[in-house]
Amino acid sequence: MSSKHEQLTPVTAPSQKPEDNSLDMTLRPRIWSEYIGQDKIKDSLKIFIDAAKQRGDTLEHLLLYGPPGLGKTSLSHIIASEMGANLKITSGPAIEKVGDLAAILTNLSAGDILFIDEAHRLNKQIEEVLYPAMEDRVLDIIIGKGPSARTIQLALPPFSLIAATTRVGLLSSPLRSRFGMTFRLDFYNNLDVKKILERSAAILKIRAEDDGLELIALSSRSTPRVANRLLKRVRDFSQVKGTGVITRDLARKTLDMLEIDELGLEPTDRKLLYTIIDKFNGGPAGIQSLSAATSEEEDTIEEIHEPYLMQLGFIQKTPRGRVATDLAYRHLGIEPMRKDSPSLF
Ligand SMILES: Nc1ncnc2c1ncn2[C@@H]1O[C@H](COP(=O)(O)OP(=O)(O)O)[C@@H](O)[C@H]1O
Ligand SMILES: [Mg+2]
Repeated sequence: MSSKHEQLTPVTAPSQKPEDNSLDMTLRPRIWSEYIGQDKIKDSLKIFIDAAKQRGDTLEHLLLYGPPGLGKTSLSHIIASEMGANLKITSGPAIEKVGDLAAILTNLSAGDILFIDEAHRLNKQIEEVLYPAMEDRVLDIIIGKGPSARTIQLALPPFSLIAATTRVGLLSSPLRSRFGMTFRLDFYNNLDVKKILERSAAILKIRAEDDGLELIALSSRSTPRVANRLLKRVRDFSQVKGTGVITRDLARKTLDMLEIDELGLEPTDRKLLYTIIDKFNGGPAGIQSLSAATSEEEDTIEEIHEPYLMQLGFIQKTPRGRVATDLAYRHLGIEPMRKDSPSLF
């Protein structure tokens, strides 16, 4: 299509531009009633939080995982505010050296919650400092080098760690086992995404017809962040091409322009499916070959595209690689030709 919208970030883009950060922040739910869906997680957390507060204790260390944009960071903010705790925010890639982590840990106050985003990107050395900090609230510091090196132990204040990751499989198992609670965030159903959109539209003072929001919800990959980004795009389009009110027709036109289909698939998703089907005969295709054939980064495929395609039942992961299902063929309007095609039926 036109080269104009090639400059637009895809609505699924993992990298957060400042524009997205401020949108996330403006629309971030602050209290339980604003945090839509994820009912099981909310119910458990409310109990754990109440229990910890009754005991006057900190919360157990918590691991949150799931694809980007499903509400891990928002949840952490709400947990901290419910606990009446400070949330200190850092991330795996930001902690480069053991000293970085030591500085963060020694600056914690009693009751603080430390949030480590992208925890799968912590390196092994850092993890090893984290274990005793999580388990025994101590920091082992090695002073000197070689035979004269010695370890001193610093006591840390009581704190809770919340780690978030999009790739739980990449966490080492010793790290994983040190969390008292682990929650997997699920994709949202369309009704919940629509509720989120209604709230966002109200905050951003966007006027929208019901069936316009419905269509945006349908195309949002069941992901709140994507829904909010789409809402903004449709709003912009409506301002220029319509009366500023979001209608179903204007939403449809915006989605067409962005080449997003009625299931929320964008060009990269379709490219991945076509590649598995055309170049790999339906699969199995290993992640490296798939990445090479599509020029998409392995991480992006695994973090963003695969989870949603798997959620739709369009691809299955087998030990030998990804396989396109009959549902994927049908969605693309291709006749499944393979004799051994794995069927979902
Ligand atoms: N359960 C929810 N209810 C309402 N809005 C949500 C919810 N989850 C996510 N959002 C919206 O999506 C945005 C991205 O969520 P975020 O917590 O940053 O996701 P993650 O950390 O998992 O990538 C938030 O700023 C918020 O606007
Ligand atoms: Mg986040």
